[in-house]
Amino acid sequence: MKLEMREGHQGTGPGAITPDGCAVELYSRLPVGEEPDIIAAAVPPGARILELGSGVGRMTHPLLERGFTVTAVDESAEMLERVRGARTICGPIEDLDLGERFDVVLLASFLVHAGDAEVRRGLLRTCARHVAEGGHVLIQREGADYHTDLPRERVDPSGFTLRLVSSEPVGEGVNSVRAEYEFPDATWTQTFLARPLTPEQFEEALGEAGLRVDRYLTEDGIWVRAVSA
Ligand SMILES: C[S@@+](CC[C@H](N)C(=O)[O-])C[C@H]1O[C@@H](n2cnc3c(N)ncnc32)[C@H](O)[C@@H]1O
Repeated sequence: MKLEMREGHQGTGPGAITPDGCAVELYSRLPVGEEPDIIAAAVPPGARILELGSGVGRMTHPLLERGFTVTAVDESAEMLERVRGARTICGPIEDLDLGERFDVVLLASFLVHAGDAEVRRGLLRTCARHVAEGGHVLIQREGADYHTDLPRERVDPSGFTLRLVSSEPVGEGVNSVRAEYEFPDATWTQTFLARPLTPEQFEEALGEAGLRVDRYLTEDGIWVRAVSA
């Protein structure tokens, strides 16, 4: 079934594109960075993780290798088809209600910056609804200069160039961001809406969902461990 694009989101390039403009083929090629190590250092060994917005399993697979159990959620069936070794659930995160709780709920990939504030509230409520008592919600936020230090580019040693081309205001508190990924044989672009959040606004959003910051895991404030308030 072809899903409708989310408003303000668009993607170009070979293969299937998700409603938020991500290319399945691109995410299958992107190497994983330090994310699995940051996560593994912040949660108990062998924890049961609910991963929201897993894509093709770029983080899922290294987490499984580190001995965690993962339930991977994504609204794109084409992304989930590529996930191996995890239980998969296809659907919008904001509507998820599994009736079970997890040691860890993971909301990575800057999804907390959803352009639509109602979607963001839904995402955070899903985190709160699925975290076990004494469990942790791990969130990946944008860096402080994400929307200002533009354009910028990074040549990845694995052989592609990531260009963050622009971030233009398109509504109250919302920017339209354009990113390009250039490989020798293909180029993908993604345009998406993002709502920058100051640490205060981020913490307020957590509070609305019944969560609070337990600790910032990285000095840049990008990775956060939250708990039920
Ligand atoms: C930028 S990709 C990142 C995927 C993965 N976390 C990674 O780092 O490789 C975002 C993924 O989240 C999914 N996604 C975004 N918003 C969603 C939502 N509200 N509900 C379900 N899936 C969503 C997209 O389909 C896409 O696969």
